[in-house]
Amino acid sequence: MRITVDQAAAKLMSGDVVAVPTETVYGLAASINSEEGVAKVFHVKGRPSNNPLIIHMSDAGQIDGFKPKFDASFAKLAAAFWPGPLTLVLPIDTRTILESVRAGLSTAAFRIPKHPLALALLSKTGPLVMPSANLSGKPSSTTADHVESDFGLDFPVLDGGSCQCGVESTVMIYQDQKWVIIRQGVLVPQDFVNVLGYFPAIDSGKQEKPICPGQMYRHYAPKAKLKLATEFTQGVVLGFTGVEYPKECEVLYLGELSHPETIGENLYKTLRYLDEKGIHEAFVDMRFQEAGIMKTIAERLRKAAS
Ligand code: TXA
Ligand code: MG
Repeated sequence: MRITVDQAAAKLMSGDVVAVPTETVYGLAASINSEEGVAKVFHVKGRPSNNPLIIHMSDAGQIDGFKPKFDASFAKLAAAFWPGPLTLVLPIDTRTILESVRAGLSTAAFRIPKHPLALALLSKTGPLVMPSANLSGKPSSTTADHVESDFGLDFPVLDGGSCQCGVESTVMIYQDQKWVIIRQGVLVPQDFVNVLGYFPAIDSGKQEKPICPGQMYRHYAPKAKLKLATEFTQGVVLGFTGVEYPKECEVLYLGELSHPETIGENLYKTLRYLDEKGIHEAFVDMRFQEAGIMKTIAERLRKAAS
């Protein structure tokens, strides 16, 4: 059900949840102060309660309310990348944030999204939690139709069209005097060199208790079985425009390798399309260089296929 910014704000203020477009993927929003709204977010997604939520703001000054501790480099990152697809995890005063939002941690994750509807809404409501608006474990939603396909036609959605990036934000934490990427995303290590003076490392997330709790779970997976491949003879293939495939293959094109942003934008749409069409199995063409956003896309494909 498509709603307006004013209707969305009214619902959020009364403890309800609504889906909101961002430049990365759609978010499932609740007011950060509503115990009831936050509980609904976890319930609607089927999200484990030990996986914390990102707090979205319209203004970096709002972060002061959470009494965060940060290094001077935080201000540089915020100035360079907000609004935008960067989420920063900071130690906070735990009394300022519901325990359910931070899943019991003494840190919280913050981001200012770069989408006019999200910003219009946030400036009316104040900070909102927003995990991706999809059933836990499934591909994120990048259109209002995706949200309705997961949560039903009556679910309230602010329709902001198709998300420009199509892949989630990059999540970083400050550790041992350096920023570390704990979830790969739209922004890649190279993007930070000018601001930080170094390439932030990518945490593997393979520890028993990963720094980013979301890394513990299956993610981005359609019902269809994905097989990562470098050779193709037949069947459905997720491939790239301009690459030749045998004529026995039914190719679903993710985009051109020379325009990786388009591939990001199409990624979850294509994974969802497999299920819409009742396709049970698809091969994914992994013959590409894992650099820039294609490294993030490769990580998403591996998780989706795992
Ligand atoms: O692009 C995005 O980030 C989207 C849009 C809606 O903003 N949101 C999103 O949220 O992807 P979600 O909940 O699907 O993923 C957030 C990730 C999870 O893996 C979670 O574990 C991690 O951020 N996270 C949240 N708070 C954290 C914290 N305090 N410490 C470490 N990781 C945290
Ligand atoms: Mg998610």
